[in-house]
Amino acid sequence: MSERTVTIGLLGCGTVGSAVVRALHERGDDIAMRAGCRLQVTRIAVRDPDRDRDVPVPRSVFTTDAVEVVDDPEIDLVCETLGGVEPARAMLLRALASGKSVVTANKELLAVAGGELFEAADAAGRDLFFEASVGGGIPLIRPLKESLAGERVTRLLGIVNGTTNYILTQMSRNGSSFDESLAEAQRLGYAEADPTADIDGSDAAAKCAILASIAFDSGVVAGDVYREGITSITSQDIADADRMGYVVKLLAIAELDDDAISVRVHPAMVPAAHPLAAVHDAFNAVYIEGRSVGQLMLFGPGAGGDPTATAVVGDLVAAARNRLTGGRAMGHTRTVDRRIRPMSDTNGQYYINLHVADRPGVLAEIAGDFGHNGVSIERVWQEGFGDEATLVFITHRALEGALQKTLQELRESPTVRSVASVLRVEGEEP
Ligand SMILES: NC(=O)c1ccc[n+]([C@@H]2O[C@H](COP(=O)([O-])OP(=O)(O)OC[C@H]3O[C@@H](n4cnc5c(N)ncnc54)[C@H](OP(=O)(O)O)[C@@H]3O)[C@@H](O)[C@H]2O)c1
Repeated sequence: MSERTVTIGLLGCGTVGSAVVRALHERGDDIAMRAGCRLQVTRIAVRDPDRDRDVPVPRSVFTTDAVEVVDDPEIDLVCETLGGVEPARAMLLRALASGKSVVTANKELLAVAGGELFEAADAAGRDLFFEASVGGGIPLIRPLKESLAGERVTRLLGIVNGTTNYILTQMSRNGSSFDESLAEAQRLGYAEADPTADIDGSDAAAKCAILASIAFDSGVVAGDVYREGITSITSQDIADADRMGYVVKLLAIAELDDDAISVRVHPAMVPAAHPLAAVHDAFNAVYIEGRSVGQLMLFGPGAGGDPTATAVVGDLVAAARNRLTGGRAMGHTRTVDRRIRPMSDTNGQYYINLHVADRPGVLAEIAGDFGHNGVSIERVWQEGFGDEATLVFITHRALEGALQKTLQELRESPTVRSVASVLRVEGEEP
């Protein structure tokens, strides 16, 4: 019996795209056995067709015209590894409109235009797969969407940016500063020459929006996500956290409470015994809490050509099988209109370090500022004496708005020399 072939038009052949081409070539027989057909890349759009790419395809396969690839009637599936919103968005809409299922690795695109793409996929009755868009090689999207379809997920805590996790790990291991750790990450290729999207939290915010949309059947976009990066984290913060039994991580958090969604990305102190505290270097992990399942953690390499290509190829296999059988994966996930909870309305626990005047009555005055704003203190202790005196507080869970009001009053208080550090505390010990 002759083997069927499903043809793929690839948009982009950089780190991820070239690894996809190699994986389909090197593991072609296994993939064909699992997919029930051979997957073949027949056209590739790039910016520079003359660039050396270490991919086992003839030069004639390359073009600079992405439209030509998408419109090619001989192509069954379109796989997008360009990055950025345009022309990726226009190309995927065009592919879906012409009846081609699409696979993308592009978190930025999904976090901005996911709704439009899901609607186009529904209208065309085709697949839109995006496993590689969050957590690189970690299977996250399909487990959340399909394996947990019967679960009520209440909270996700994720380390979804390898660059910032590498920097924070270095700061924690070596006591080095943020700038030194960033320079080391750039030297080793873990951070881009322009690391802004990583260190300001916007990469993690895009991923947070995608995860929240799936987990809570809603339409969360990147702009909904409250965001703080890691640039103001000092080696002193990391050392203080360590002394108290915590590790500092950049967390993407999505919660569903009282039918409202809270989505935020910020640095947080995580108890050293929490599974996320053991996620080091450039690794990623997402910790999922559900009513019935309790806690789960999915862990692995969050980036890199080969790990990410594994996720893309898995999607291509699923799309190819559906093409042959006439089936379709779970489509539109954005079914419920849920309110996005403003940051001031979220609940959290906080670590606060204040430089204060060392004289009698200071603690009582400061405790008064916490008290009348409704922020109750779990622990407080003094470190150092005289001009060096600092008061360290860990609060009970409190409203973010009340905490910010307290901080404002503390900054204006004559007894407080400075608010040296404020960090949220997340993730109870399991
Ligand atoms: N790298 C990772 O570890 C990783 C992990 C997870 C997800 N992703 C996502 O995967 C996507 C691709 O990332 P990457 O690291 O592979 O990027 P990359 O190495 O920069 O590759 C991008 C490719 O797209 C081509 N391209 C860009 N604009 C084009 C245009 N207008 N027309 C035709 N071709 C165009 C480039 O062509 P030239 O080669 O000719 O310049 C290049 O081949 C992004 O959405 C990224 O967020 C990446």
